[in-house]
Amino acid sequence: MDKPFSQACANNQDIISQMLTSVLADKKRVLEIGSGTGQHGVFFANKLPHLTWQMSDRRQNHEGIQRWMADNPAPNLLAPIALDVLSDAWPTSYYDGIYSANTAHIMPWQAVQAMFTGIGERLLSGGVFCLYGPIKYAGILMAKSNQEFDQWLQQQAPHQGIREFSELDSLAKNAGLKFIQDKAMPANNRLLVWQKTA
Ligand SMILES: C[S@@+](CC[C@H](N)C(=O)[O-])C[C@H]1O[C@@H](n2cnc3c(N)ncnc32)[C@H](O)[C@@H]1O
Repeated sequence: MDKPFSQACANNQDIISQMLTSVLADKKRVLEIGSGTGQHGVFFANKLPHLTWQMSDRRQNHEGIQRWMADNPAPNLLAPIALDVLSDAWPTSYYDGIYSANTAHIMPWQAVQAMFTGIGERLLSGGVFCLYGPIKYAGILMAKSNQEFDQWLQQQAPHQGIREFSELDSLAKNAGLKFIQDKAMPANNRLLVWQKTA
């Protein structure tokens, strides 16, 4: 079946799943925000069978995600729910893990704010939020590839851009999350992890 394809997902899914294996070792239910093509959901559900993996995204991406699911069914992989973090109602379920890759620099800042607020409301105490992607620190992007990517993002749409760690962490704090881990990943990406406090 013809499916949308992300080369970046194909490149990074192995190393991200290795990280998630330890970060989500004692978790049960994960919500993915901005599942995109659905490749990560399909891959991680297979690699992490102890988790129930709930994909989500804006409606326009659901058909592609369904195609990936149809070709790679798994009992612990749930069909995508419609979740535009700005305009849709969030699921009423609670999760002990939330994961999102390459979304914060694509969404407008207002949506990033809404994403953290929603995460704070839907994460169980002790649950973790894992955010993957390029990150700016103290206003600086060290890697040339990230500087060029940031410029390209802003040329595509002025609301896009690589986000500043301290600003993300401030949103997290306001949502009741404590920063616990920052792992360097290939291609100048990071995996940031916050934990919901009691
Ligand atoms: C660059 S893609 C990343 C997709 C996938 N996570 C990956 O790593 O390949 C950005 C994703 O963010 C989603 N997105 C953008 N704005 C959003 C919003 N307001 N609410 C939820 N998802 C959003 C897009 O639909 C898209 O799936």
